[in-house]
Amino acid sequence: MQISPSILSADFANLEAELRKVANADWAHVDVMDAHFVPNLTIGLPVVEALVKVSPIPVDAHLMIEDPDRWAPLYAEAGCQSVTFHIEAAREPVTLARALRAAGARASMAIKPGTEFGPYEDLLPELDMVLVMTVEPGFGGQSFMADQMPKVRQVREAVKRFGGEIWIQVDGGVSASTIEQCAEAGADVFVAGSAVYGAEDAAAAIDELRALATAHAH
Ligand code: DX5
Ligand code: ZN
Repeated sequence: MQISPSILSADFANLEAELRKVANADWAHVDVMDAHFVPNLTIGLPVVEALVKVSPIPVDAHLMIEDPDRWAPLYAEAGCQSVTFHIEAAREPVTLARALRAAGARASMAIKPGTEFGPYEDLLPELDMVLVMTVEPGFGGQSFMADQMPKVRQVREAVKRFGGEIWIQVDGGVSASTIEQCAEAGADVFVAGSAVYGAEDAAAAIDELRALATAHAH
């Protein structure tokens, strides 16, 4: 059970200090948005490269961008140890996933709430993680979509059938009151932005989330 705090809810003027606050987490989740794939703009490659250099924990890059085929491998080369592309934007997902692994990153595919997983099940051998979005991508602080839990179960079943060691991440509205149902459905990597950075004590919030997820493991 791994926790990946999203720095989207952190103080963007003090990112190094904000990363240090979550050093007890497993990953630092970095949301890259291009104002095309989603209606919001965050940071890009030069800033992510700088974050990788100072982060006390591995960087989990979530690319909400057009043309990941072109851009995603550069995030792997920059040292992100996990790189997630959106399947809705990828043209050659097999080639892309292989390029990410070749550059030394874990290869991960994200699916938006309105996207079915079924058509992409045959990509599992190319992947190290599947991200099931539990909000519409674009903004932090939105309400958790419990109606995505059947999809998490479906991905978990498919991973079991395949037999590989593939992680299942949930992202969006994950908090102490929603993480248990995610864990029960089969998720094992939990992104939390506002629930961590909005807490009085970010490190304590991470420990609490991990304990709740562990107690409700599928
Ligand atoms: C949304 C981002 C999320 C976001 C989560 O598009 O991908 O990572 O930061 O924030 P919370 O946990 O506040 O929903
Ligand atoms: Zn994200």
